[in-house]
Amino acid sequence: MTDKAQATWGGRFSQGPAKLMQTFSESVSFDKRLAPYDIAVNRAHTAMLHSIDLLTKAELDSIHTGLDTIEKRLKEGAVEWDEALEDVHMNIEQALTKIAPAAAKMHTARSRNDQVATDVRLFFKDACSHLSSLLTKVIDSLLSVADANKGIHIPGYTHLQRAQPVSVAHHLLAYVEMFYRDIGRFEKVGQDANWCPLGSGAIAGTTLPIDREFTARELGFVDAEGHPQVTRNSMDSVSDRDLFLDFAHACASCGVHISRLSEDMIIWNSSEFGYVELPDAFCTGSSLMPQKKNPDSLELLRGKSGRLVGNGQALYTMVKGLPLTYNRDLQEDKVQVFDSFDQLSICLEVLAGTIEGAAFKPDNCAKAVSDVALLATDLADFLVINGVAFRDAHHAVGGLVAAAEKLGVPLNEVPDEEAAAVHPGISGEWRSVFELNRAMIAREGIGMPGPNRIKSELAAWRKRLSL
Ligand code: ARG
Repeated sequence: MTDKAQATWGGRFSQGPAKLMQTFSESVSFDKRLAPYDIAVNRAHTAMLHSIDLLTKAELDSIHTGLDTIEKRLKEGAVEWDEALEDVHMNIEQALTKIAPAAAKMHTARSRNDQVATDVRLFFKDACSHLSSLLTKVIDSLLSVADANKGIHIPGYTHLQRAQPVSVAHHLLAYVEMFYRDIGRFEKVGQDANWCPLGSGAIAGTTLPIDREFTARELGFVDAEGHPQVTRNSMDSVSDRDLFLDFAHACASCGVHISRLSEDMIIWNSSEFGYVELPDAFCTGSSLMPQKKNPDSLELLRGKSGRLVGNGQALYTMVKGLPLTYNRDLQEDKVQVFDSFDQLSICLEVLAGTIEGAAFKPDNCAKAVSDVALLATDLADFLVINGVAFRDAHHAVGGLVAAAEKLGVPLNEVPDEEAAAVHPGISGEWRSVFELNRAMIAREGIGMPGPNRIKSELAAWRKRLSL
């Protein structure tokens, strides 16, 4: 058994927790990273207590000076965390009380339940803006590579079968769309985090005359006009974990996008495709096969997305079925959130590095995209322009494909006579539809891969993101 006096809540206990229980229930090993936020919350809360005369100016000053000292120690890595004190909140409070005895008043009108809810909201605000800026960097890399390779075309695929020609830029811009939606998700989580729960207490607020808006303002929980934003229901405030779920979802969604891009690049990098060469700096070799250069960064990115999805799953499972309000289960929520944040942060940096170093191979791409079958649909469109109903046109071109196969020639080399026999509309300038440049120039509509459209899309993205 441990010393009961060690626990800040020890008053009603006849003995302290078993050593095993202490080790089991501590969270300081992972929530210590909330320390900078906890210190900020302590500063704001005590300033508010002073504003309502529950702390004297001298008490406030000594607490704030003490918090400065702890903050300095923290930066120097000199804080000794004690698992017997459970979590970051009690560790900081106890360390502070040793240098500023007035800190014994610091926990007035609050609970660790609203305290941790406030700390993590500050964390989410920072985390979301950090991830948004890393995502912007990834988009920047995608735009640069798209721009540098905008003249290169490859087959686009459906069912992983060659479908229609697209430019490398158009393909990469599809991912820009996805990552931009991820930025939107993180921005939304950041906005939702911007409401201050402090003052909700353990569950039902406090009888003391606190000023919640004061604290909210001090901590930057304000709207665009600087008005304080405080949460409205004390029970929801201490038990709500929507931000955790939404954050984990945003990370998982981004992870899935990273994974799909990785998979595309892995396929393009295989000898069978050979569209792209990856940078040595983000590949590794084989311990046995000397010739190997493996796309490990992309494989790890693909693999880690599973972890991001799993973290979301773990959080949903944890929260589901919990009665209101706070339950200790919720202490575990930080594990997944920190893991998703750390993993996604490094994933985004590795992704940007890998993309920046990717070199497309124009000859191999040109060879693959020269397959005229990719433009079979363009021939159907040619017939439509000449008054043939699309269904009939589709059928006619299908017939031409069969004829070409039978003759053992590419689609555009079926002799005129055979072509006209398939459908009289396949005549005149019909072979010109198989010219790649013409086919691309014909696709300048909104959302399409035409060269001018791509140029204006690249410019629009740079403008939108101030890049
Ligand atoms: N470390 C705890 C957590 O993160 C803080 C809240 C503890 N509250 C309590 N009633 N035991 O959930």
